[in-house]
Amino acid sequence: MQPFRFAHLSDPHLPLEPDRPKGLEWLSKRTLSYQSWQRKRRHAHTPAMLAAILADIRTQRVDHWAVTGDIANISLPGEFRRGAEWLRNLGAARDVSYVPGNHDAMVPVPFADGLGLWADYMTGDGQGAVAFPYLRQRGPVAFIGANSGVPTAPLLAQGHLGREQMQRLGDMLADAGRRGLFRVLMVHHPVADGVVSSRKGLTDRRDLRDLLSRTGAELLLHGHAHVANLSMVKGPLGPIPSLTAPSASAIGYRHDMPARWHLVTVDTDGPDWRVQVEVRGVERRDAPVTALGGWSLRLPAMP
Ligand SMILES: [Fe+2]
Repeated sequence: MQPFRFAHLSDPHLPLEPDRPKGLEWLSKRTLSYQSWQRKRRHAHTPAMLAAILADIRTQRVDHWAVTGDIANISLPGEFRRGAEWLRNLGAARDVSYVPGNHDAMVPVPFADGLGLWADYMTGDGQGAVAFPYLRQRGPVAFIGANSGVPTAPLLAQGHLGREQMQRLGDMLADAGRRGLFRVLMVHHPVADGVVSSRKGLTDRRDLRDLLSRTGAELLLHGHAHVANLSMVKGPLGPIPSLTAPSASAIGYRHDMPARWHLVTVDTDGPDWRVQVEVRGVERRDAPVTALGGWSLRLPAMP
C-alpha cells in the first residue's frame, strides 16, 4: 500500500469584516459574540498566519484535507459566502472534507444561505445531499464527518450530536471497520474529558465514547479548543488517539496557542496500522512554519 497523507487543520475563523450584524440580526446570540469579536477575537486571528499555514500544507502535497470546523465567527450570511470561496481555494470538493463548528451554527440560519453553501465539502460518497454523519473513502481511509455544531444559549459553546446521528455513526463505523478501512472520525468538539471546560464541551461525549468503545475508530480529529491536545479514548482493541488542532490562523493571543496543523501519514505495518503525526506550525507570531514535533503510533487493525 502507498502511504496516504492528509492534513488536519481547524478553526480558521476567517475575518468577519466587512460584515456586521444588521437590523434584526442584533436580536440574537450574535450580539454578544460580535462584541467579543470586536474586543478580543479579531486580534487573535490573522489572514497572514492562515496563509502561511496553507502555503506550508501545499508544499507537503497531501492526498486530502480534513478541516474540523469554525470557518465562521458569528454565522452571518456573508461569512458563509466567503467561506465557500475559501473552501474552493483549498481544493476540489473531493479532496477537502469539512465538519461544522459551533461558530458555523451560532444561530439558526436557513440551510441554503448557510451550511448549504459548503455542501460539496460535506457530502458523503454516493450521496446527493448533505446528511450527517457522512463517509468519504479516500485510499485506505474513511473520513467520517459528524456535525456537533448546534445553536446554544449566550455564553455557552457546547456541542451535541444527538441520538439519530449517534445511531447512524455506530452503523457507519462498524461497517467501515468490517471493510478494513482506517476510520478517521471528524467532530469539531473534542471527545475526551478535560480538553475544554464543560461550558464548551460536547454534551453527549460520554455516549460517543461508549459507542467508540464498541465499534472502534482508528483516529479522532477535533478543533474548538484553540490549543493542541492528544488524548486517548477506549476502543475495543486498545486506546483510540483523539487529536485536537489549535486554530490555523491564531497568532498566540492570550491563552490561544499559535497556529499549527497536523500532517498525518497512514501506512500498514504487517497486520497493524502505522500512523505518523507530524505537528507543523509556528513557535510564535513572526516565526516561520516548521516541524514542531510529532508522534508515531502503531494501531491494531480490526480483525
Ligand atoms: Fe473556534
